[in-house]
Amino acid sequence: TPIGTLGEGEAGRADHQAWAGSPAQLMYKIDVKVGSHRFHPELPTQEVWGYDGKVPGPLFHARYGQPIVVRFRNQLPSSVQGYGSPDISVHLHNLHTPSESDGYPEDWFSATACGPTLTRAGEYKDYHYPMVYAGGDSKEALGTMWYHDHRHDFTAGNVYRGLAGFFLAFDGLDSGNENDPNTGALRLPSGEFDVPLMLADRYFDSGGYVSFDQFNQDGFIGDKWLVNGKVQPYFHVAPRKYRFRLLAAGTARIWDLQLRYQNRVQSFIQISSDGNLFASPVLRSNVVLGAAERADLVIDFSRFPVGSELFLTNRLKHLDGRKAEVDLLPTPDQLLKFIVDRPLPGPDNSRVLSRLRDQPTIDMAQVAATRNFNFGRSSGGWTINDRLFDGRPICTPKMGTAEIWNLRNTSGGWAHPVHIHFEEGRILKRNGIDPPAWERGRKDVFLLGPNENVQVYLRFRDFPGKYIMHCHNTIHEDHAMMARFDIVA
Ligand code: C2O
Ligand code: CU
Repeated sequence: TPIGTLGEGEAGRADHQAWAGSPAQLMYKIDVKVGSHRFHPELPTQEVWGYDGKVPGPLFHARYGQPIVVRFRNQLPSSVQGYGSPDISVHLHNLHTPSESDGYPEDWFSATACGPTLTRAGEYKDYHYPMVYAGGDSKEALGTMWYHDHRHDFTAGNVYRGLAGFFLAFDGLDSGNENDPNTGALRLPSGEFDVPLMLADRYFDSGGYVSFDQFNQDGFIGDKWLVNGKVQPYFHVAPRKYRFRLLAAGTARIWDLQLRYQNRVQSFIQISSDGNLFASPVLRSNVVLGAAERADLVIDFSRFPVGSELFLTNRLKHLDGRKAEVDLLPTPDQLLKFIVDRPLPGPDNSRVLSRLRDQPTIDMAQVAATRNFNFGRSSGGWTINDRLFDGRPICTPKMGTAEIWNLRNTSGGWAHPVHIHFEEGRILKRNGIDPPAWERGRKDVFLLGPNENVQVYLRFRDFPGKYIMHCHNTIHEDHAMMARFDIVA
């Protein structure tokens, strides 16, 4: 709930190019603090870190054309036991955001201090979210996003402690109203039938408390499944269509998700990737998500008899955090149980049209540079082009141009979900061939399996400044498979 507005042109407290000159911004306040949380009735209530103390954090509903400012106040204890850092930097993954509000890893702040790149210390920072389309083009709208901590060197621990929440954006087309009288609106399932699902894994010790190995540089895998902060929950649904916004929010885990009824795989409709609606929906029987990837699915429960139980399952096995080799489980794990026993509250006016959102054209004439980035491993950790993150720009794309980035996994048998901040890209080729239908939309995470390469078309518009790309296996990111790039005017 907004607490007011920040007036016309008022800057708020952000360093560098303040977001001045925008219309009045709705203002929100979030306290980043310790909360107490119960992952399961049989597990003890325990401390977590959360936005407003909650896991997941508060859910945002935002609209294009209505800029907002969020004052994140750091109320974490000044020193911590174990993993993580009480210094924070908030990244709204992957809203089109000016550089100073993008949660750059070294822009961290605590209650009393701040990192090397922030000039003003302490307590809170205002993040300005202008809610504008990249390039002013409504084809560039984003839907399902999430915000999470991005503290340099400590992202894995901080996100694992609970610093993650959903941020949903709407506009006239994807209006968030399935009864929208406007004939142009998509009328996707909305309100209580539009449900974000944050998937994560945690490791619990013998006392039932979450634990984490911060010294494992390869990746950390939990032994229990969480959906929206609960271990293997259930959900009562009505016999109608739902929109589920899936997010892979674990540390290193890659998921291969299916819907099962009486142990038979059921199809569903995928309508987006990484928060970007497809040109057309795609009928699927599974969806693979690497860390930080999202997919919006529409599931119609009216196909199943009253009282049916369905399961969202994962069939991809990680033997441990060390191996990126993954295998199919003989019996898939059940993440979430749907029970179709809620009465239908009214007619289901939602629909999935055969045309969703047109995609912007890929204009090769705008390509000003082609760059190669190798995601590798060296004795000191995880690298991009043999470099650990050092805060110096690896390249300087010119604002107003497009580029082609070849992302190559040169690390051997490991997987890297590569995330590029700022603008979504389009996959031109995966391993030299055209990508499948569900990888032809706009994306901000590009999963590189062992020895894979992906060719991505990117554009740089609107906001100059520093941004980053990194592996979203947050352990790899912290150790330090991350690079800064500067968009220059
Ligand atoms: Cu989801 Cu650089 O982050
Ligand atoms: Cu990686």
